[in-house]
Amino acid sequence: MVLVTSREIFQRAEEEKYAVGAFNANNLEMVQAIIEAAEEENAPVILQASQGAIKYAGLEFIVGMVTTAAKEVKVPVVLHLDHGTDFEQNVRCLRAGFTSLMFDGSALPFEKNVEITRKIVEIAHPVGVPVEAEIGKVAGTEDHITVSEVEALMTDPDEARRFVELTKCDSLAVAVGNVHRMLTRTAKLDIPRIRKIKELVGIPLVLHGATGIPDDGIRDAIAAGVRKINIATELNRAFVNGIKESIQKMPEEVDPRKVLKKSKENVKAAVKEKMRLFGCIGKGV
Ligand code: G3H
Ligand code: ZN
Repeated sequence: MVLVTSREIFQRAEEEKYAVGAFNANNLEMVQAIIEAAEEENAPVILQASQGAIKYAGLEFIVGMVTTAAKEVKVPVVLHLDHGTDFEQNVRCLRAGFTSLMFDGSALPFEKNVEITRKIVEIAHPVGVPVEAEIGKVAGTEDHITVSEVEALMTDPDEARRFVELTKCDSLAVAVGNVHRMLTRTAKLDIPRIRKIKELVGIPLVLHGATGIPDDGIRDAIAAGVRKINIATELNRAFVNGIKESIQKMPEEVDPRKVLKKSKENVKAAVKEKMRLFGCIGKGV
């Protein structure tokens, strides 16, 4: 089917209290693996591209690949911009056919974050495209920050309420103990904080950096109001491990289709496992 917007799939997720998986893709095999997994599990899916992925693969290539893959399946597929850090990037993605946007102004002062988020909402809403925003800051492992620094960057519930009221954003990425690009699953989430934010803002909450969160943390976060969960590092690891395995098994192989077969299978298996955990299997059509 044609791409749908995240608004359509979040509505059912809110009613039935599950989360939709948002999976980052960088190339054709990852796009295929994610969308085939969704179809086989009858799950709605958000395929997201970061600015880095857009730079790597090309904006039109990403739109072309995802639009084509979505047309071949019956489950709803959303194409989402992940961590757009400026107004212009959001405009380019809107024009190119993305059905969901994100402005990440978490590194900016509150007022500036509000100003740009609002401007993007004002151009996206008239054409029916929802906008995710971020308040509080989800750090990355490369920032080498301590547990107390992670805590200091967490989303303040009252600030989140004001932010949503002022911007009219459609979903909100929150910093609640989650950290990007973790290779261990040891992040500890502040569940009461998630519950409090949800109570005050009402809109779907987004959990970034989910590779590093243990299964129980994910389940509790969903129960507290998270409706979109972002996974990138886990899929990158699955893909690269597939290449390593293939090369080890077939050191003489020169056909990239054969070398990448295992990578695609690994990504597909990882996506299915996360979908099961998020509770979105069977919610596709
Ligand atoms: O925006 C993308 C994510 O937040 C993914 O985080 O690479 O830690 O899974 P991750
Ligand atoms: Zn993220």
